[in-house]
Amino acid sequence: MGEKIVNYGIIGVGLMGREHLLNLYHLRIQNVAVVCIADPHLPSQQHALDLATSFNWPLKVFSGHQELLDSGMCDVVVVSTPNMTHYQILMDIINHPKPHHVLVEKPLCTTVMDCRKVIEAARKRPEMLVQVGLEYRYMPPVAKLIEIVKGGALGQIKMVAIREHRFPFLVKVNNWNRFNCNSGGTLVEKCCHFFDLMRLFAGANPVRVMASGGVDVNHKDEIYDGKVPDIIDNAYVIVEFENNSRGMLDLCMFAEGSKNEQEISVVGDTGKGEAFVPESIVRLGNRLEGREGVKTVKAEDDRIKYEGLHHGSSYLEHLNFLSAIRAQGVQAPAVDLHDGLVSVAIGVAAQVSIELGRFVTMEEVMNDN
Ligand SMILES: NC(=O)c1ccc[n+]([C@@H]2O[C@H](COP(=O)([O-])OP(=O)(O)OC[C@H]3O[C@@H](n4cnc5c(N)ncnc54)[C@H](O)[C@@H]3O)[C@@H](O)[C@H]2O)c1
Repeated sequence: MGEKIVNYGIIGVGLMGREHLLNLYHLRIQNVAVVCIADPHLPSQQHALDLATSFNWPLKVFSGHQELLDSGMCDVVVVSTPNMTHYQILMDIINHPKPHHVLVEKPLCTTVMDCRKVIEAARKRPEMLVQVGLEYRYMPPVAKLIEIVKGGALGQIKMVAIREHRFPFLVKVNNWNRFNCNSGGTLVEKCCHFFDLMRLFAGANPVRVMASGGVDVNHKDEIYDGKVPDIIDNAYVIVEFENNSRGMLDLCMFAEGSKNEQEISVVGDTGKGEAFVPESIVRLGNRLEGREGVKTVKAEDDRIKYEGLHHGSSYLEHLNFLSAIRAQGVQAPAVDLHDGLVSVAIGVAAQVSIELGRFVTMEEVMNDN
């Protein structure tokens, strides 16, 4: 293709960091290469090295992100470390003399305040592009439903219901994901994806959040350093938006007996659309034609060269970010820091709502110092 090679470094090469490595390998035809990684955990380093060796990619290994940045080897860094480390790593990247473009995994940070400080720091480095890894937008059935909604086929959107029924949280390196203080809490850690989608479908900003949830089934028999995990495993969350539309999340993490992991329903004043993952199906109907008129289509995206763990969404996320990088300032990242902040803030509001047993306004969490 003749384009200059874009060199990537990956900070944190656990499950998701290696997933990024695999995705970038499948993007090699676009002239990208992963040239270095940083991770203090020797088994993670070794797994990543083994993968890179199998691709014939020489990889420089660092134990910390600062050495990786100082090496000057990469144009882009992917941050795929535990959630509670995102803030300091992002600040170090943003404050480093060499500019790096950044793809940071969700959640942007674990608190609203940290997200805001990152946004403030990044404002001073306009030459750096930062994209947040809210990749569910790219899953083919979800992307198709977004296209339908934005095209106006459902009329004015009134209700967005997202059900995630799945398996419990996986085991992570040093079990960081078992505690709210590390992950931000379940409704931040994983549900920021869904709050991001709700906001996209609703086409408006959130106003207030009410949630009910608990630690009812999972991880109750686990103990780490004398502490039992405190992360909730099921919740209902209601989000009200500025344009009077509303969203509802139905999360259950002990629902392995489900055909789909995500079921999304978006209803406007003239029609209804649904997306199912992993069935990869979209349904579309309208009030005039009723049940008889409901169409079912298979959602596919020919650009995906690697399905990976997230139905090709990580591949499309990288493709999209690469095109923003190559556009050299003309194209903004598709999912920016503000999107990252709002998705975290809705999750924080939901976590607080469970604690306080009342509606929590976005103003309360956005202004909480
Ligand atoms: N987009 C998605 O759907 C998705 C899916 C899974 C995980 N994630 C996100 O990816 C991130 C990583 O999750 P994971 O599942 O890979 O966890 P993991 O525990 O499997 O891997 C994390 C890795 O980061 C390393 N690490 C810890 N501190 C570090 C530091 N200061 N510098 C460099 N490396 C460090 C650990 O040693 C480990 O190898 C999290 O933010 C998580 O929320 C996103």
